[in-house]
Order: sequence, then structure tokens, then C-alpha cells
Amino acid sequence: MKKIALIYGATGQDGSYLADFLLKKKYHVHAIKRKSSSLNTERIDHIYEKNTKNFFLHYGDITDPISVNEIIHSVNPDEIYNLAAQSHVAVSFKIPNYTAQVNALGALNILEAIKSSKKRNKIKYYQAGTSEMYGKVQENPQSENTPFYPRSPYGVAKLFAHWITINYREAYDLFACNGILFNHESPRRGETFVTRKITIGLCKIKLGIQKKLILGNLYAKRDWGHAKDYVEAQWLMMQQKKPEDFVIATGHTHTVKSFIIECAKQLNLKIIWKGKGIKTKGYDKNGKCIIECSKKYFRPSEVDFLLGNAKKARSKLKWKPNFNFSKLVKDMITNDYEKLKS
Ligand code: NAP
Ligand code: GDD
Repeated sequence: MKKIALIYGATGQDGSYLADFLLKKKYHVHAIKRKSSSLNTERIDHIYEKNTKNFFLHYGDITDPISVNEIIHSVNPDEIYNLAAQSHVAVSFKIPNYTAQVNALGALNILEAIKSSKKRNKIKYYQAGTSEMYGKVQENPQSENTPFYPRSPYGVAKLFAHWITINYREAYDLFACNGILFNHESPRRGETFVTRKITIGLCKIKLGIQKKLILGNLYAKRDWGHAKDYVEAQWLMMQQKKPEDFVIATGHTHTVKSFIIECAKQLNLKIIWKGKGIKTKGYDKNGKCIIECSKKYFRPSEVDFLLGNAKKARSKLKWKPNFNFSKLVKDMITNDYEKLKS
């Protein structure tokens, strides 16, 4: 019999890749979309157009326990992936209460619905945890055993979701696992996250349709991987006999500035750097300023450094990323350049 998967967050970057991945594995995929005043299914339209037989869209919202119960009890899934979130760290400082409703209590709503389901010991649950929980890092590199120290309402809310997942696993014997995923990007990445903002900005500068790219902290370091590799890891965690938590990361870290430099190299765009810290500026070959920093994009408290240790996933899940840093940049740059050119 075909397995049934339910994806919360299917219209997002990871959810859309996960839907592609599970359909290839012959799952029946049920995906949740939110009511929105404009179309929000761009990332899954390609599936809907050609694979309607195994793909089902439902309106829902993770903050509404009535809808969560109704969907879980009627779909009767084998696997539930909770990828739904207010996922922007900077925005979480502006809407902390809402971020907690979605990122913390949303997870609880799903776990409660599983607990009250007749199939409760058969349903597997995946919680989309994050390296943001390490925040002000207490150890390098960060592994499953590193203590957490979140630095934003986003990180704090995700930490609740992490621990409530462990609590429901221990208290009610649910198959509930946490992925602790480091940053992962792709051509489907939201346009306000730094990598996509850079790939779009530099492509537009190269094509002469944007003059300047204005960013925040260029010296924060992130362990960046590709979303396609990371959704495979999510699935692998759900295929284990016992639920466990896993760090997923590449084991390499780069500054935001290095990301810009790699993009510029691949675009054959020369940048001459001058100044330090917030005064750092990038100039083109004609001496025109094309990159500068603004306080506007700095956060009230920053996560300066992230570097993951995914040894456990590599040995237990046999997980290995296919994309390295320059392949990731290439995929994003190629996609944005082609799209913008046409
Ligand atoms: P994303 O592109 O921002 O997608 C988030 C998804 O959640 C969207 O489908 C969004 O729907 C949905 N959503 C938001 N609020 C909801 C609500 N109240 N009810 C139902 N759905 C809701 O994020 P992503 O990059 O794919 O990340 C997926 C998950 O992994 C998130 O939980 C994120 O926090 C976590 N994570 C991401 C990374 C990363 O680097 N990408 C790393 C670690 C963890 P709309 O399309 O309607 O907005
Ligand atoms: N967004 C953004 N915009 N970030 C900027 C900018 C800018 O203009 N300029 C510099 N940055 C810096 C941020 O201060 C941060 O240090 C870094 O670039 C990465 O920012 P984001 O791309 O917004 O990602 P994030 O690391 O805060 O959060 C992402 O990764 C987490 C995993 O660690 C999100 O996907 C989270 O949902 C995810 O949990």
C-alpha cells in the first residue's frame, strides 16, 4: 500500500522540495496551504499541474487546533512533516507573539492531534528544528549534544517545539523526531533571506537593472547547504526504527561577504572592497559603489557563528550532501540570472 504523507509548510522552500521527493518515492502527498489574498502556491504549481492523482491540497493553518485535528484525523497519514513556520529571524523580533503562536504552539497542536488519533502509535512526526537554537554558540562545531542558547524570538519558539517533541515522544511513546538543520538555500529560497537577496541583487547589477545592494552584517558566518539535500535527510530520519534527533549540516562555514565574493566570481563581476564593519563597501571596476551596509538590516541580537557537526547523520542515516558551497551558489546564480535575463 502507498504511504501517506502530510506536509505542513508545503508552499515553502523545503515543503515544496519534500513534496517533489516524496512523490518520486510514490507516496500519496497531502499538502497544507494557507488562505492568502494572493496566490501562494508558486513553488508547488508544477506538481499540481502534472501529478494531481497522488497530490492533495487542503486549506489549513497550524495555529488552528480545530483544523489541525480535522485534517490529521481525516487524512490518516503515516508521516507528518511539520515545516510550517514564521521562518524569518529578523521578522520574529517585530512579531514575537505571532512567531510563538506558529513556531511553538503550532507544533503542540499537531502533537496533540496525533496523541488523540486512533493511529497514534503508527504516525511518525518530524519537527523542523534549527541551528538558530544554538544562537550564542556554547561549543564548536555544534552537535546534538551542544547546549542551546537561542538569540531571537524565532529561536526561542523553535526551542519550545524541540522540547515538546521530545516530551511527547517520552511521555506518550510517539514516533516524534527533531531535525536540527543548519541554513539551507536553493533557487526556491525566500527572497528576503540573505543568500537569495544577494543572488538576485548581484544578477540584477550584472544585467544593469539594479544599482546597489544594501545589506546588514557581512561578517556573520553560516554553514550553508542545499535544501534538496536537507529534505532527503528529513525523510531518512522518518525511516529509522526509533525516533531520534539529528543535526544536518555541511561542516563548512562562510561569512556573508564570502557568499557575495563567490557569487561575483561566478558572475564574472569584479568587486573592490574598502572599509571595515558596517562601513564596508563594494565598488565595481569603474569605482561605482554597488554594495553597502545599513543598520536597518542588523538584528537586536545576532547569531555570529554557526558550524554544524553532522557525524551522527552521516553514520546512522548514511546521509551525505551532494552540493558543496560553490555548487550551491552556482545553482542559485544560474537560476536567477536566466530568469532575470528573460
Ligand atoms: P519557508 O520557505 O518560509 O516556508 C514556511 C512554510 O510555512 C510556508 O509554506 C508557509 O506558508 C508555512 N506557514 C507559515 N505559517 C503557517 C501557519 N500558521 N500555518 C500553516 N503553514 C504556515 O521556510 P523553509 O526555509 O522552507 O523552512 C521550512 C522549515 O524549516 C521552517 O519551519 C523553518 O523554520 C525550518 N528551518 C529552515 C532552515 C533553512 O535554512 N531554510 C533551517 C532550519 C530550520 P505560506 O507560503 O503561506 O507563507
Ligand atoms: N535576511 C538578511 N538580510 N540577513 C542579512 C542581511 C540582509 O540584508 N545582511 C546580512 N544578513 C545576515 C544576518 O544578520 C544573518 O547573520 C545572516 O545574514 C543570515 O541571515 P538569513 O539569511 O536571514 O538567515 P538566518 O540565519 O537568520 O535564518 C535562516 O536559517 C536558520 C537556520 O540557522 C532561516 O532560514 C531560519 O528559518 C533558519 O532556522
